[in-house]
Amino acid sequence: MTEQVLIEERENGPLVVKGLENFIGPDGEALEAKPVMALCRCGGSANKPFCDGTHREQGFESRGGDPAGKDALLRYRGEQITVLYNPRLCSHAGECGRLSPTAFDPSRKPWISPDAVSVSEIEDVVRTCPSGALQIEGRGSPAPEGSSIRVERNGPYRVVHAELDAESAGKGASNEKMVLCRCGLSGNKPWCDGSHSDSGWKDG
Ligand code: SF4
Ligand code: FES
Repeated sequence: MTEQVLIEERENGPLVVKGLENFIGPDGEALEAKPVMALCRCGGSANKPFCDGTHREQGFESRGGDPAGKDALLRYRGEQITVLYNPRLCSHAGECGRLSPTAFDPSRKPWISPDAVSVSEIEDVVRTCPSGALQIEGRGSPAPEGSSIRVERNGPYRVVHAELDAESAGKGASNEKMVLCRCGLSGNKPWCDGSHSDSGWKDG
């Protein structure tokens, strides 16, 4: 039986991951997963994705910041389904708007219109949402089978099925999927808030 994957948030330090078997690199390659490993989240390690202690030298702080979006489960009611959205969990990469621009349009208020497209299109978007910020009321935010962490190039960790031991938990956060900051710049650690993209952060 596969072990439960645990991610521990170390204050002013790395993410310590235990029990991961499926560790995936930016090109889909398998990375060596140790039973316990410390993953860099300050953005400064010379040995990414692993921590090399640089966080101490650079005085990395994992608290504070200016969270993008409030921690609330917002409701978007449709005839057949209601979509829930927590801005605090969202990595703001915009997969939803690209997949279904009619139903998910950030330039509009309300930005989600569940009745504008078919139920199956909404279901596809919620399934694709990497952070779990989008859910269908009563059904959550389904994720693929198995536990994994994928290192996104010049971006965050995409996590599927892991228990996150963090000081704060966003409303509606689940262990099914989450996107965690790797650049150290998120105002909303441990979650990614899209700051890597806004700042042009690069792996190298
Ligand atoms: S994380 Fe989910 S809700 Fe946020 S932009 Fe991506 S798909 Fe949309
Ligand atoms: S978190 Fe330790 S080097 Fe980045």
